[in-house]
Amino acid sequence: MSQTTPIVDEPFPLPQRWGDEEIALLSQAMRQRSLFYWQGPQTEALYAAFRALYPLKYLFPCSSGTSSVHIAVMALRLKPGDEVIVPAMTDMGSVLGLLHQLLVPVFVDVEPRTYNLDPAAARAAITPKTRAILAVHLCGNPCDLDALLALAREHNLTLIEDCAQAWGAKYQGKHVGLFGDIGCWSFNDFKHLSCGDGGMVGTNRDDLGRDLTKWGDKCYNRITNVRNPDELAYNYRMSEPLSAICTAQLGKHDAIVAPRVRFGTLLTKLLADAPGVLTPIVRPGDTHSYYNFIFRLDLAVLKTTRREFAAALRAEGVNARDELPAPVYTYELFQRHNFFGGRWPVRDLGLTAMDYTTVHCPVAESYHSDNIMLPINEAMTEGYVRKVAAAVNTVARRFAA
Ligand SMILES: Cc1ncc(COP(=O)(O)O)c(C=O)c1O
Repeated sequence: MSQTTPIVDEPFPLPQRWGDEEIALLSQAMRQRSLFYWQGPQTEALYAAFRALYPLKYLFPCSSGTSSVHIAVMALRLKPGDEVIVPAMTDMGSVLGLLHQLLVPVFVDVEPRTYNLDPAAARAAITPKTRAILAVHLCGNPCDLDALLALAREHNLTLIEDCAQAWGAKYQGKHVGLFGDIGCWSFNDFKHLSCGDGGMVGTNRDDLGRDLTKWGDKCYNRITNVRNPDELAYNYRMSEPLSAICTAQLGKHDAIVAPRVRFGTLLTKLLADAPGVLTPIVRPGDTHSYYNFIFRLDLAVLKTTRREFAAALRAEGVNARDELPAPVYTYELFQRHNFFGGRWPVRDLGLTAMDYTTVHCPVAESYHSDNIMLPINEAMTEGYVRKVAAAVNTVARRFAA
């Protein structure tokens, strides 16, 4: 075995994500008489901290990104069998709420170099039953919001923005999440900002926002204190200690996002001439906030496989991953329509003819077989990123030879 030093000759840097700021607010919370969210001081502080960055009139801090999307969908009051256009590449959390509302997720293909919902594919998927589009800003790269907003306006559709991976990402200078009808965020352990598990949903629309809290608070009316739920809702509340952590994390928002933007942008630049390496494309004027850095391999140029390429990177000390999940509709759950005890009431009732075994999104499927993921975080240094880029360039040249 070769004893040569790998190009990346230092350990993968890991940030200390929580510290004195979180502890200070948590200590405050521990001296309170209640940890309940309603009018809780930590929750109120979280509203203020969030609005300073994402000025939305109505907010509800919730238990996860998944519940934030579910709340957004409940707020639309869609009917069983209504269709929502979703990208083929996303997390299950984007679609769980749709399934539970007995809606039909309609998977459409992604753009080859942004990995986001392709507006042309979305247009082609519109039917008389389409009610909404879920724009997922994958990896922190903003979707083509002008095109999606135009499409939504043209067909009277609601635009939900899933910003779980896109803290700090900007579309034409303004944070994503502020463009559509309603925005959703995640504070799970893997996101730019985290309280372990949490989420936020917000909107400026009075009709959606007026009742926003009820969807995540069992349809109780905390203002009148009258307990007479009139619609089906859940308990997706965020408690005070988690709100305290989220507030502290929001105080670090720019300090976490800025280096990621810098390192992702630098990596893109340094890989510009790597043969067969297709880096993500960011539209001019947009800010990609690099939840991670995913590039694709042009396997017509490189004489290798994704697995072999990633293994070669790891041998050079790069923390490269090649196990990103397949398009969502390929999961066994969808292939067997195994949603509710083996049944799918929406189809049993004749409200949809959707058959997920016939769905094909060629770009998402090829992306699944040729992408490599490099984690990005705020603890990296420019020197470290340069070593990673050198390793990718070296490995690419080796396989292109
Ligand atoms: C795009 C996207 N949407 C939704 C979610 C769900 O978030 P959570 O894990 O907080 O429920 C995630 C989480 O990975 C995600 O990446």
